[in-house]
Amino acid sequence: MKKTIERIKKLSKNAEGLLSVVQSTQDLKELYDQFLGKKSEINFISKDLKNYSEQDRKIIGNEIHLFRSGFCKKIEVLKTRLEKELLEGKLKSDWMDVTKRIYTNKGSLHPLSLIQKKVELIFSSMGFEIADGPELETEWHNFDALNVPTGHPARDMQDTFWIKNESENSIDNFVLRTQTSNVQIREMSKSGAPIRIIAPGRTFRNEAIDASHDAMFYQVEGLLVDKDISLAHLKGVLESFLTQLFGQEVTIRLRPGYFPFVEPGLEVDFSCLLCKSQGCRVCKNSGWIEFMGAGMVHPNVLRNCNVDPDEFTGFAFGFGLTRLVMMKYEIDDIRLLTSQKKEFLDQF
Ligand code: FA5
Repeated sequence: MKKTIERIKKLSKNAEGLLSVVQSTQDLKELYDQFLGKKSEINFISKDLKNYSEQDRKIIGNEIHLFRSGFCKKIEVLKTRLEKELLEGKLKSDWMDVTKRIYTNKGSLHPLSLIQKKVELIFSSMGFEIADGPELETEWHNFDALNVPTGHPARDMQDTFWIKNESENSIDNFVLRTQTSNVQIREMSKSGAPIRIIAPGRTFRNEAIDASHDAMFYQVEGLLVDKDISLAHLKGVLESFLTQLFGQEVTIRLRPGYFPFVEPGLEVDFSCLLCKSQGCRVCKNSGWIEFMGAGMVHPNVLRNCNVDPDEFTGFAFGFGLTRLVMMKYEIDDIRLLTSQKKEFLDQF
């Protein structure tokens, strides 16, 4: 009996030693199996109790009970401590600042949208409304109403995508609009005069594509019709627009130009900002940048929209938004704008 008690005490000491170096709940589970499991030494001692006298059984039984309950208690305490430590470690390692802003893949506006928004804002501040028109347009709105009837040599100025009209209900010929000037006709026919609009949008021409020409590009149309409007108003509006757009004083130069829907027709240049009109590579040493077509709205165009040319006069202009964006950001190939290249778009 004495030997058995000593065996249990030795077991208890052993267990205590091993419990003091436990690192994880897995270690605990293994120790539990080792000291209290089916094949544990204490189990064998328990099974062997029947071979002792009743008195010894009581003494040994009590010792077994003390060992088991003491060991279980220590396991419980250790388990709680280890689980707490594990949780605290996890909370520390998994902690994140949910208020921190991390924009790893932040999107941005396309440069065309950026400049279009700016253009719209400036003209809105001068009382212009933003108008829109269809890209699939009738021959009437894109050409005839703009004083370019069939057979007129000016038709050949723009390479046109003609669209087959398969409708039985309409005899109109259709084109992909070659210019945003179609919006002049649509808006004036709808609202008459006075009118003050700009119309940014896509235009299409059947052209050979190179670094500065695309088959699809953006234009911005401008139209102001009212009483006693003259070229002086056009000059004032354009200089004010360009000065606000570039954030520095810009002067413009008007040269004669031909567009069938304006009379007189003008080509508008603005002073080269890069060399302060001294002459450089960008302005081809002229000191001026070619910018847009413009002029006083032709009386035939006003009449086609039921506006009386004896009562109203106005100016119109149209510039390439795509080319303006290229100038502003010094983009040397127009194809980059539609390339969807991430390295290119990430710059804006
Ligand atoms: C016109 O389209 C006239 N509708 C402009 C106008 C409006 C004149 C109102 C008078 C009154 P033009 O064909 O020059 O004009 O084109 C205008 C601008 O579009 C050009 O200055 C150029 O910047 C741009 N553009 C023309 N063709 C292309 C092209 N293939 N690729 C990129 N931009 C182009």
